Amino acid sequence: MPLHPREKHDHATLKFPDGFLWGTATSAHQVEGGNIHSDWWEWEQTKPPSLRSGKACDQYHLYEEDFDLAKSLNQNAHRLSIEWSRIEPVMGEYDYHAIEHYKGVLKALKDRHFQVMLTLWHFTLPKWVADLGGWENSKTVEYFLRFVKKIVPQIGEYVDFWITLNEPSVYVYQSYTVGEWPPQKKSKWASIKVTWNLAQAHKKAYRLLHQLTRGKPVGFSQNIQSFETPHKHSFLEQFSVIISDILENHSFYFLTKKSNDFLGINYYFHHRFNHLTLEDISEVTKLSVDTTHDVSDLGWEIYPEGMFDVLTDFADGLPTYITECGIASTNDDRRVRFLVHYLQEVYRAIKTGADVKGFFYWSLIDNFEWHHGFEPRFGLVEVDYQTQKRIIRPSAKVYAEIIEHNGIPHKLMKFIGHRVSAEEVLEQK
Ligand code: BGC
Repeated sequence: MPLHPREKHDHATLKFPDGFLWGTATSAHQVEGGNIHSDWWEWEQTKPPSLRSGKACDQYHLYEEDFDLAKSLNQNAHRLSIEWSRIEPVMGEYDYHAIEHYKGVLKALKDRHFQVMLTLWHFTLPKWVADLGGWENSKTVEYFLRFVKKIVPQIGEYVDFWITLNEPSVYVYQSYTVGEWPPQKKSKWASIKVTWNLAQAHKKAYRLLHQLTRGKPVGFSQNIQSFETPHKHSFLEQFSVIISDILENHSFYFLTKKSNDFLGINYYFHHRFNHLTLEDISEVTKLSVDTTHDVSDLGWEIYPEGMFDVLTDFADGLPTYITECGIASTNDDRRVRFLVHYLQEVYRAIKTGADVKGFFYWSLIDNFEWHHGFEPRFGLVEVDYQTQKRIIRPSAKVYAEIIEHNGIPHKLMKFIGHRVSAEEVLEQK
């Protein structure tokens, strides 16, 4: 990992490059509600009601209201996904209402002058695809390409950046390594097959999108994790850092070389490998959660420096977008500190040469956090799930102020030092 260069202390705003994209990200299944033709929906029905997506945030109907909010909060870009299982609920049969719906959604973003980043696959599959073996079945690559070929000509005019796949490595880990997500398999062989098929899907979709969209940039979102061994003398721990970095962070890039116009980085995790034994190695990332440090409501370590590390480690000439970064917390002052700290690290990475062009906070609104249900609160905007009322949190206003300055104003850096509340900071001129 690169060393941190020291920055001079000054009192000016930390300015980001002109044209920087400031946005938020969501995914269809997590916000839309009523996504009944997907494998996740079916799987959730076997869980207690609190772990079912149900109506979620009802964004399927409330999208205009949500986009108005994002606009009023100064955001200039938005990342979202479309739901394959709505568009093709039965093999080869397309639902034209769903296609019209998504045209309306994307047009609504364009009417509000957002730069639109669209994800084509964000963890969920049509149930019929899952029944045929999901991504373990190499035919799924063809099914996915057929879907891409169908939908892209219909919506292409509204999209500025394409994300083929969201976090393939996380999906493989959750669904096929630890078996926490559908189809809940624990199989090394299946993990390898799924990884391979996802890589083929990305490469082929990359070529197809280039044919269909005349040069709009295409990439995928990868969950890049920061790994560290505090005790540098242990060979096993150093070895684990190197292997984990290759497997979790780099392998999918090796498999899809020359098929990315930009890097889409989701940054959430820092792992410290402490006192490992040989038996720990196979599930090393699970074991390394270290709750003696500051953690989010999900127990994930808050480690802003890791943002600098992953950005500088991955700076290889391609433009980079932070396609997700956020904190699950019911304490919004923590979210403000999180934003300022993490963005300071983005700023430092840019200063040392990383070509970072945009930041998408996860998420615009609280939403369905997969197998954790609705309890984790990631939103800049709170959702009251009883009434579907949106309540703007102070962190959303702080983010709006950052966007207005295209950087971090000095008063926000003072806030970090003095630990005053977000409301008090907003009142200061
Ligand atoms: C995923 C999102 C998820 C977020 C927070 C990312 O890994 O893309 O779907 O909600 O992390 O866990």
